[in-house]
Amino acid sequence: MIKVSAPGNIFFFGEHSVVYERPAIVASIDKRTYSKIKERSDDRIIVNSRNYGKIDEKLSEILKKEFNNYSDYKNEMDPIRDLLKQYLTDFEIKNGFEMEIISDIPKNSGGMSSSTAVLCSVLGALDSLFEVSRKKEEYFDYLYPFQVKIHGGSASGSEIISSSLGGYSKVKIDKSKSKLDFENLGTHEYYIVIGDTGIKAKTAEAVQYVKSRWERDKEYYEGIFDEIEKIVQKGEKAILNGDIEHVGELMDENHRLLAEDLMVSHPELDKLVNAAKEAGAYGAKLSGGGRGGIMFALCDEENQKDIGNAIKRTGGIPYLTAVGVEGVRLG
Ligand code: MEV
Repeated sequence: MIKVSAPGNIFFFGEHSVVYERPAIVASIDKRTYSKIKERSDDRIIVNSRNYGKIDEKLSEILKKEFNNYSDYKNEMDPIRDLLKQYLTDFEIKNGFEMEIISDIPKNSGGMSSSTAVLCSVLGALDSLFEVSRKKEEYFDYLYPFQVKIHGGSASGSEIISSSLGGYSKVKIDKSKSKLDFENLGTHEYYIVIGDTGIKAKTAEAVQYVKSRWERDKEYYEGIFDEIEKIVQKGEKAILNGDIEHVGELMDENHRLLAEDLMVSHPELDKLVNAAKEAGAYGAKLSGGGRGGIMFALCDEENQKDIGNAIKRTGGIPYLTAVGVEGVRLG
């Protein structure tokens, strides 16, 4: 049995505006999805996932499926079916296999990029089984079309970079070339607490919500995206300099813009952000699509527990995790 895993991630700065060709900073978290795979002697493809569901189909049936756009994804296994179909076609695979997907990325309400970690670990497992060599930097090109469909037609693909490469990355999409520029920002010892609101929020809906508002008043929203871009640039410097206080302040500013201008926060997210700040966090913000899902707070190793408790008292589920862990890997 071969096992490949990939981490979830958070946005330090720049979610949403990254879809509009502004930079963002993403970092992997110490919660992973594991895909275990083994060959079968027949032509059946079996995929089991406690979080997402099950596939038990003949290879020829998977090849017949059509996933032309996001509305063709009818259930949570369809992005995986779509990836399998592409892979079976590209590499002319003729024999079946069995796969098990296990995740320690909480999927309660979304926001930690669990679906991207699934894509990366499934691709890694397939490559290992079928001896396809692929650099981590090449995951983006292969997986981007699936990420676009998962996010409802517009996606930056930032999470693929973070999940495949791990660490801290600065990313910027170039839509005309369907290309994402990225830069590894090295390793840093930051501690965070993730607070899950438990409120399910679909990234695709949040992305569509921002898009519909942007379409109505492009000038205004482009201005907000420019403001966020300035935060990202300052944030990059602060992260690189280890200036944790400034990183925290910039996270607060980014949250304010997401909440008040893009209106993608949620009262429960704001409550957790405030509770974390009152408990001594350097900064706190929502991460990912927003409108539910998760926030995270930047802290020291010493006050990580206190902030976790404050999040719990306020009704959230806290996850204490390291940031900037290894990307997709065997095991
Ligand atoms: C979602 O995790 C992050 C967004 O910026 C969408 C994307 O980058 O594709 C909201």
